[in-house]
Amino acid sequence: MKIALVGGTGDMGTGFAVRWAANHEIIIGSRKAEKAEESAALVNKLLASDGKVQGTDNGSAIASADVVVLCVPYEHLVSVTQDLRKFYSSQLVISPVVPMSYNGKFFEFNPPKEGSAALQARALLPEGMRIVSAFHTICAAALQRKDQELETDVFICGDDPDAVSLVSGLGQEIKKLRPLNVGPLAASALVESLTPMLLNVARRNKIRDAGIKIVSER
Ligand SMILES: NC(=O)c1ccc[n+]([C@@H]2O[C@H](COP(=O)([O-])OP(=O)(O)OC[C@H]3O[C@@H](n4cnc5c(N)ncnc54)[C@H](OP(=O)(O)O)[C@@H]3O)[C@@H](O)[C@H]2O)c1
Repeated sequence: MKIALVGGTGDMGTGFAVRWAANHEIIIGSRKAEKAEESAALVNKLLASDGKVQGTDNGSAIASADVVVLCVPYEHLVSVTQDLRKFYSSQLVISPVVPMSYNGKFFEFNPPKEGSAALQARALLPEGMRIVSAFHTICAAALQRKDQELETDVFICGDDPDAVSLVSGLGQEIKKLRPLNVGPLAASALVESLTPMLLNVARRNKIRDAGIKIVSER
């Protein structure tokens, strides 16, 4: 597949590029094509794969992709969805976006009026686009370490079974990560809200690169 990483010059984008470049054509997107090209060159160097990952502006990345991952902080969700609307057509959009902030004491969840970042993204994108919400609790630093096995789960929400299945497959391509279906996109707030909780736990208990795994006691 052709996977566009919008804002892919950042932490999560770099991690996805590193993990998916072996099986897919990765296009790192940025507000500045030059910055994306530099990021792509760095990832290619890291992977020792000549030119597999490309870099361009966000709009061109979206237009040429089958799958678009929104790799920007929540504050910029509008600029990579509504403002780039004309570049979207039939791509599957993946949102790992977490609307949260630090209030000086702890990280808190700040959902928009739509209920979650994923539902807001759906409202901002052209009608009928398929959106899947996933990867909110995956640590970018761990994701960037190509050979590290991730002992965690990835929680996935979406309304289109084929789209959810495709994103589960992308999850499984990341060593040891276990994809778990949470429910429809309307349930995304439940998953998005896990990230500030996870960061609070990690910070107060000094757990580095924390993740979440559901265990069965049977
Ligand atoms: N970091 C994590 O461990 C983690 C884990 C799970 C989920 N997430 C979620 O994943 C998303 C990406 O996180 P991240 O840590 O990768 O973000 P980040 O590194 O802070 O930023 C990603 C990219 O956003 C772009 N950006 C900055 N300002 C912008 C603006 N005004 N308009 C459009 N784009 C702008 C930048 O790309 P250009 O300058 O190249 O345009 C930047 O490289 C977030 O929504 C976060 O909640 C993060």
